[in-house]
Amino acid sequence: MIGVFDSGSGGLTILEALQKHLPSQDFMYLGDHANAPYGHRSNEQIVEFTKNGVDILMKRGCSLVILACNTAAAVALRTLQQTWLENAHPGKRILGVLVPMVEAITGVPWSETSSNANKKYTPQNIAIFATRKTVESNAYNEEVQKRAPHITLLPKACPGIVDAIEGGAGNLPIQGLIEGYVRELRAEHKKIDAALLGCTHFPLVRKYFHAALGQEIELFSQPTVVAQSLTEYLRDHPEYNTEESGKTKLITTGSASNVAALSSFLPDHLQTFTEI
Ligand code: DGL
Repeated sequence: MIGVFDSGSGGLTILEALQKHLPSQDFMYLGDHANAPYGHRSNEQIVEFTKNGVDILMKRGCSLVILACNTAAAVALRTLQQTWLENAHPGKRILGVLVPMVEAITGVPWSETSSNANKKYTPQNIAIFATRKTVESNAYNEEVQKRAPHITLLPKACPGIVDAIEGGAGNLPIQGLIEGYVRELRAEHKKIDAALLGCTHFPLVRKYFHAALGQEIELFSQPTVVAQSLTEYLRDHPEYNTEESGKTKLITTGSASNVAALSSFLPDHLQTFTEI
């Protein structure tokens, strides 16, 4: 099985795309609903929660775990790869969701860390909507600047949206929050060429970002980009390819009945969680 981890239900947007692109793979999804949201937690807490989540998935048989959570990937991925994984689970791998997005935005493969400053590119202003922690980590900006200095990232921390989605707040308050954040960003930056939803919960309410930004602004789709990237990764690393019967199991650290409160955002097959 391939493990997919998120602080809560946002990573289901990534899982849905993975299932479409890789229909014969078996997946196990863990939502850390007991500790969600991560966006305002300390770095130490995010590292600890993410480590526990990956550990659970690996002990249940996953040799590859995708952190389908920008906050966990931005704050914890490198630390876990460098200080924990090899001792705890030799030979296993953790991948994040930032790398595929940085490749998609910059057009520069991850293996190339040098800038392409000598090539002629039109300057671009790309808005990124994310949790406060992801914005504070500066991880997107650092990696984009190394590869494509002609791109200016316009980060916008959006506290409250994840809580509203996980808490089943309903559409109107969420739409209001999104309109407010887009308005604030537009007041700070007159020119926005494209936008990236840098939180896996946000594709659940993508239509409100689209409406607030205007149809002419390209919205990079993280689920699709991550699914394409994992498909290529498995082609290059067949040892992590677990093609079997295309089954998916959803598990949660929280209460399965509370997770069902998100039903209005999710397709039926992504709604039944088992408590661990
Ligand atoms: N959906 C996650 C992300 O991509 C985490 C949100 C949160 O738990 O605050 O950042």
